[in-house]
Amino acid sequence: MSISFKVSRSSSTSEAVGVVVASDGAVPAELGLNRKQLSERGFDAKAGQTLVLHGLRGSRIIVAVGIGDPRKFGPTEARNTAAALARAVSKSSSVSTGLADAGTGNRAQIAQAVVEGFRLATHRYTDLKNDKSSVSKIESVVLTASSKSSSAVRNGVARGTTVADAVCMARDLANMPPAYLTARMMADRAVAIAEATGLGVTVYDRDQLANMGCGGILGVNKGSTEPPRMVKLVYTPKSGTKMIKGRKGHVVLVGKGVMYDSGGISLKPSDPSHAVMKMDMSGAAAVLATMSTLASLNCKVQVTAYLMCTDNMPSGSALKLGDVLTMRNGKTVEIHNTDAEGRLILADGLSLAAEAKPHAIIDIATLTGACIVALGEKVAGVMGNNDGLVEQLRKASSRVDEPIWQLPLVKDYRKLLDSTVADMRNIGGPYGGSITAGLFLGEFVGDTPWAHLDIAGPMKVDGDDGWMQKGATAFGTRLLIDTVCNFTAV
Ligand code: BES
Ligand code: MN
Ligand code: ZN
Repeated sequence: MSISFKVSRSSSTSEAVGVVVASDGAVPAELGLNRKQLSERGFDAKAGQTLVLHGLRGSRIIVAVGIGDPRKFGPTEARNTAAALARAVSKSSSVSTGLADAGTGNRAQIAQAVVEGFRLATHRYTDLKNDKSSVSKIESVVLTASSKSSSAVRNGVARGTTVADAVCMARDLANMPPAYLTARMMADRAVAIAEATGLGVTVYDRDQLANMGCGGILGVNKGSTEPPRMVKLVYTPKSGTKMIKGRKGHVVLVGKGVMYDSGGISLKPSDPSHAVMKMDMSGAAAVLATMSTLASLNCKVQVTAYLMCTDNMPSGSALKLGDVLTMRNGKTVEIHNTDAEGRLILADGLSLAAEAKPHAIIDIATLTGACIVALGEKVAGVMGNNDGLVEQLRKASSRVDEPIWQLPLVKDYRKLLDSTVADMRNIGGPYGGSITAGLFLGEFVGDTPWAHLDIAGPMKVDGDDGWMQKGATAFGTRLLIDTVCNFTAV
């Protein structure tokens, strides 16, 4: 069950209360402890620090919640602090706190982040568990706010709820086992979500993809008994579209939806760690989740999305090494490793995206293990042909606390993709694998401003951490939402 939020001027009779304490200044009397006593208990009010004090007021649980320096308490601190509070009181059904009105920052942004922190730090995918006792018991949260801030806080709560719901949905999709979410089922879900959120939607099956010349997704799908699906989603702003360079602002998102990546004929070892390859559709899930929020958030640009969905399986009919595929834009690709499948399905999606001549294309994909080697598990790679677009992504990244780092699309490395028989092959050499993958994708966007997000590292976490919960993170969802909602000319 997801938490409901209420904004109120006074704290009501909740089971638990999170009392805000800054690192300087007066300590709220309701804690019953002064600063020295708090510090003796190891609590020095750093942002995100919590101290649970039982039974000081009857049966009520009082939690001291540190916010550090109120002038440095921004959305990132608010999100993480709310997450820490949520975990500290996860056995209480009702909570009240002044966190949404804490610090000196923008009220709506802080409140949004607080809602995100509560929801994201308590979300678990438990559909397949009989014992659901690991689920947080929090049902309602009262956010106390002064009369001056309450309308901004309410606004932030609404946005935070929309965003957090979307992230939780994307996490559920990524956490689902492969048999519970095939390409067909993903498409069915996308249709339902589109209908519920007022998006245009078209689903393309194998025959339609063949007629459209989408040789990449069809090639990857060859080894599978499950047919592929491409889903096109269209968001059109209701109340006027922002004009960019004399025409209606338009961004296209493309998501990698490999429902399960076995590697294909270039089979991955049967190591239990590869169970996470059910999450190889995290890019498509982030795009679908993003699209579901745009009407509620009143996004001012048109957004089109392509979800490229198939699994990657070995079999008698599978793609072979040495085979050559012809992609949607006519370029031919010689297969040298069937495990480099993400770029093959993205190639068709990017080609279609470029045909619409949008202001920008952004793709998101769990694309390369090399990106995890380069940047670790907490940072996504970003590459692109347009510095202005990359800069917009970087700004959004710091606002939403989803870290990204740019890798260079080194022109000289393009020759690593040269093929004897086709326009290119689908892998480069042993080094710089994220960059050669990026260069490959760049062949399908023409001159359109384009950026590529490689989320292989942060697609999952191995333990609860800040706004992330063990399992799929839905990383990139909040980044894309923020980017498209704030999109300007590049
Ligand atoms: N889906 C994987 C990349 C990946 C690895 C995502 C680990 C998340 C965690 C991708 O399809 C893949 O297999 N990439 C290969 C490319 C190689 C064959 C050029 C890789 O990274 O090893
Ligand atoms: Mn692969
Ligand atoms: Zn993959």
